[in-house]
Amino acid sequence: MSRKTVLVSGGAGYIGSHVTVELDAAGYDVLIADNFSNCDRTNYNGVCQITGKQLPLVEMDFCDTAAVRRLFDEHQIDAVIHFAAFKAVGESVADPLKYYCNNLESFLNILQVSREKGCNVLFSSSATVYGEPEHLPVSETSERKPCTSPYGNTKQICEDFLRDCVNAYPQIKGIALRYFNPIGAHPSALIGELPRGVPQNLVPFITQTAAGKRECLSVFGNDYDTPDGTCLRDYIDIVDLAKAHVCAVGRMLENKMKTSYEIFNVGTGRPLSVLELITTFEKVNNLKLNYKIAPRRPGDVTAVWCDPSYAEKELGWKAVRSTEETLASAWAWEKRLLGE
Ligand code: WQD
Repeated sequence: MSRKTVLVSGGAGYIGSHVTVELDAAGYDVLIADNFSNCDRTNYNGVCQITGKQLPLVEMDFCDTAAVRRLFDEHQIDAVIHFAAFKAVGESVADPLKYYCNNLESFLNILQVSREKGCNVLFSSSATVYGEPEHLPVSETSERKPCTSPYGNTKQICEDFLRDCVNAYPQIKGIALRYFNPIGAHPSALIGELPRGVPQNLVPFITQTAAGKRECLSVFGNDYDTPDGTCLRDYIDIVDLAKAHVCAVGRMLENKMKTSYEIFNVGTGRPLSVLELITTFEKVNNLKLNYKIAPRRPGDVTAVWCDPSYAEKELGWKAVRSTEETLASAWAWEKRLLGE
C-alpha cells in the first residue's frame, strides 16, 4: 500500500503536535501547517525529536485562500485534520469577530479546496456543543444545545459546514471528533500544552501553581449539585486522544465509514470532579497544591461526560492511560519547562 499523506493544520499546537507524532508512528506521511499565531516552535521541535525526522512544515495562515490552494496544489494530500483555530472561551466572548472570522474562514477555505481535490476532512470539535446536558453520559445522538460562547458556536457551525458539504459533494467524506477535556503531555515530556499568559484551563493552572508560577489555584464553585460540590468533567489523556485521530483517519482512507459524515465522542466515560483531580495530582506527584474555593465561573456547566462506546465499537479506540499517568505526565512536562 502506498503511503498516505495527512495534512495537519495547526500541527505545531498542543493537540496537533501529539496527533502528528501518532500519525507518523502509524506510517502516515505528515505535512504540518501552522502560522505560529498561538504557539512557538517548542512543540514542533519536540515532534521532530520524538519522530527522529525533520517533518515538513509550511508556515501559513488558513484564512489566506490563495495560500491554502497553493498548499493543496503543491502536495498530494489524502486527508486533512483541521486544528488551526483560536480556542479561548473568554476571549471569544470579548472579541467574537476575531473568532468568527478566523475559525470560520479558515475552515471554509479547507472545505472549498478539499471539495476540488476530493480530500477527506477530519474536524476537531468539542463537548462544548452539548452545553448543559439533560441526560448523562452524553452520546453522539444527544441533543446539541445553544452555545454560551462564540468559540463554542464556531464548533457547532463548523460541524454543520462539514455535514452539509459531505452531503452535497460525494467526493469528500468527513468526521467530527468531539473532545471532552484533553489533558496531560507526551510521556517523553518533549511536547505538551503551552498556554499563553494566565492559563484558563484547570490542569495547566494546577501545574503552574505547583511550579510556583501562580500563587494559588481557585476552585470555581463547591456548591454545585455533585457529590463533592465541584464540577464534573471527562478528562481525556492527550496521547489517547491523539490515537483516536489515527483510527478516524484510517476509517476515512480505508473506506470504512458507514455514512459520509460521522461524529465520535472522544472521552473516557469517567466523570471526575475538580477536587478529585486536584487530590489525584497531589498524590501521584507527591506534592501539596495551594488552592482555595472561589465563586463559580460564569458559563461553566455542572457536569458533562461521555459514553465512549460508539467510538470503541466503530473506531476500535478507547482511552487506556490512567488519570494518574496523565497527571504525572502533565507535571513532568511543567518541570521540563522549568528546566529541571
Ligand atoms: C474544567 C473545570 C472549571 C480552571 C473548556 C472549554 C472546552 C474545551 C476545554 C478547548 C471546570 C474548573 C478551571 C481553574 C477551576 N476547549 N476550573 N479553576 O471549561 O470544562 O472546557 O476547555 O479548547 O470547549 O469550554 O475546561 O479546564 O477550563 O475547566 O476550578 O482555574 O475546572 O470550573 O469545572 P472546561 P477547564
